[in-house]
Amino acid sequence: MSGSAFDRTPEQNALVEGWTPPEIDTSRAHSARMYDYYLGGKTNFPADRAAAERVLAAFPSLRVSARENRAFLMRLVRLLAGQGITQFLDIGTGIPIEGRNTHDAAQAVAPESRVVYVDNDPIVLAHARALLTSGASGATAYIDADVHTPESILDHPTLGTTLDVNRPVAVLMLALLHFLPDDHKPTEILARLTERLPSGSHLGLSHVTGDFDPVSWESIVNTYRESGIPGQVRSRAEFAALVPDGWEIVDPGVEILPHWRPDASTTEFPDPALVSAYALVARKL
Ligand SMILES: C[S@@+](CC[C@H](N)C(=O)[O-])C[C@H]1O[C@@H](n2cnc3c(N)ncnc32)[C@H](O)[C@@H]1O
Repeated sequence: MSGSAFDRTPEQNALVEGWTPPEIDTSRAHSARMYDYYLGGKTNFPADRAAAERVLAAFPSLRVSARENRAFLMRLVRLLAGQGITQFLDIGTGIPIEGRNTHDAAQAVAPESRVVYVDNDPIVLAHARALLTSGASGATAYIDADVHTPESILDHPTLGTTLDVNRPVAVLMLALLHFLPDDHKPTEILARLTERLPSGSHLGLSHVTGDFDPVSWESIVNTYRESGIPGQVRSRAEFAALVPDGWEIVDPGVEILPHWRPDASTTEFPDPALVSAYALVARKL
């Protein structure tokens, strides 16, 4: 079969010689595959598409939000790499997007950048092993782990062999924390994940909000829950409150995604209600 794995559907990938599909439950929707569908990718199955279509019926601009989220990831990583932060821990990586992954952005600015990706979805694992390739002077690695157990990430041997945790690290958790409702203790998880990192480390977060359109977002959260995916929207203040003690939110503070340090060439911005997601970056003191 011709073409890269990016061009093939999951069903086609399963036919490629040497590609071993992991244990994937395609009967239930999964957040990574729904996000892939919003972004126009092919790594999704009927259950994902059905749930995603229900969400899009409640909030058609979620595709805008997903695109803005990925654009924020690229901007942030380029910015940090340009400031000399060349170690990244990208938790809740998502299904790879050709040329638009953390190591692509970082190594374009600082080829020596080293990236550890973490996700708990078997389909992300399958694609990550095959596709997350580093430039020769940097490194990429992948850890199959759940953010609910930070020590399974921090104590994983791959982390220690890829990153020097005595030097600043940028921890990225984009579009992830809204899958951790308050009873999953996201504040405690973030504190445990970041407590060992040295001063000068950074934390990049993005998160959906019901601040602009609470009725639609209540419906979206319910659709995800009915599909077996827990979730919670947070207000601007609730999002900011997730930042651990000892970290300061850097300029420009909590912003709607496209307004967080936009590229100079950006002149038009979508209505905040269409995006309904915040971004923030914090620095360890
Ligand atoms: C909406 S996608 C965001 C992808 C990427 N971070 C981005 O912003 O473009 C959320 C990702 O988080 C992953 N995820 C959800 N819950 C997780 C958990 N408990 N531990 C690790 N990853 C998780 C999903 O598998 C999915 O890949």
